[in-house]
Amino acid sequence: MGIEIKRVGIIGAGQMGSGIAQVCAAAGLDVFINDRDPARLANGIDSIEKGYARLVSKGAMEETDSRSARERITSIDTFAGLAPCDLVIEAATENEATKRDIFTSLCPVLGPDTMVATNTSSISITRLAAATDRPERFIGIHFMNPVPVMQLVELIRGIATEDQTYESAKGFIGKLGKTATMSEDFPAFIVNRILLPMINEAIYTLYEGVGSVESIDTAMKLGANHPMGPLQLADFIGLDTCLSVMQVLYEGLADSKYRPCPLLVKYVEAGWLGRKTKRGFYDYRGVNPVPTR
Ligand SMILES: NC(=O)c1ccc[n+]([C@@H]2O[C@H](COP(=O)([O-])OP(=O)(O)OC[C@H]3O[C@@H](n4cnc5c(N)ncnc54)[C@H](O)[C@@H]3O)[C@@H](O)[C@H]2O)c1
Repeated sequence: MGIEIKRVGIIGAGQMGSGIAQVCAAAGLDVFINDRDPARLANGIDSIEKGYARLVSKGAMEETDSRSARERITSIDTFAGLAPCDLVIEAATENEATKRDIFTSLCPVLGPDTMVATNTSSISITRLAAATDRPERFIGIHFMNPVPVMQLVELIRGIATEDQTYESAKGFIGKLGKTATMSEDFPAFIVNRILLPMINEAIYTLYEGVGSVESIDTAMKLGANHPMGPLQLADFIGLDTCLSVMQVLYEGLADSKYRPCPLLVKYVEAGWLGRKTKRGFYDYRGVNPVPTR
């Protein structure tokens, strides 16, 4: 019932956009990737090439396959280059105004049948769909980080999303070898509704002096069997993204239990966004990460 996706456009070449491009091209799809910042686009392509090289060195991908996958990825400067796509996935910064502006300039250049998706971690799919000219062909396709490693993809339907769009998205995720789950369109969906308040609580624990960065991360790794400590994970996700998700939860559910920790706000205001800026709860500028508090 769904349509087969062969050409995928990606807007935003940060950690998520580049990861999505990497897995799509490896699955045989043609990929067109855009970023408003040429340096971020170049970095994104570089991290895709490193990703393929890592897979080849581990014996998880043939060298010839990695070369063909790389050749299927085209960098584009303007949204006009996305016109031939069957599906365009927006993976830009977690900010509603940014995403709305993207959809406003994107839709006029697309063919009428092109599906549009957002990789938002938290923002209402129905509200974002309303910024497009095709709410029935709009859907949330929420990949997890790092995309090449994580098995899950959350699919979120907006109020107007048609069955065909949902089925096409499900088929697309299957083609990538990943598992789709369905979430209702509520703030932060399933994974981040549960995960981000836990991370925010870890930051409160640090803020109130209950433990140091190292104690909190070690406690959750060894005491709750988490593969990564919550502060390490926050740095990995990006503190700007964490704050944005907490704000969506706080405003969307109108419950004070989702209040973003003031220390998280302070780190974001300092531009300490985690790994991507080389400083967050840890400092990544040396050989080994060092706690910043
Ligand atoms: N980081 C995570 O763990 C994670 C996990 C799942 C989903 N997400 C979601 O994926 C999206 C991207 O997150 P990220 O971690 O890759 O962020 P990032 O900061 O690494 O990358 C965002 C990219 O978007 C680009 N961008 C911003 N405005 C743009 C525009 N108008 N046109 C084109 N490009 C634009 C930026 O230049 C940047 O390169 C967000 O919606 C985020 O919530 C993130």
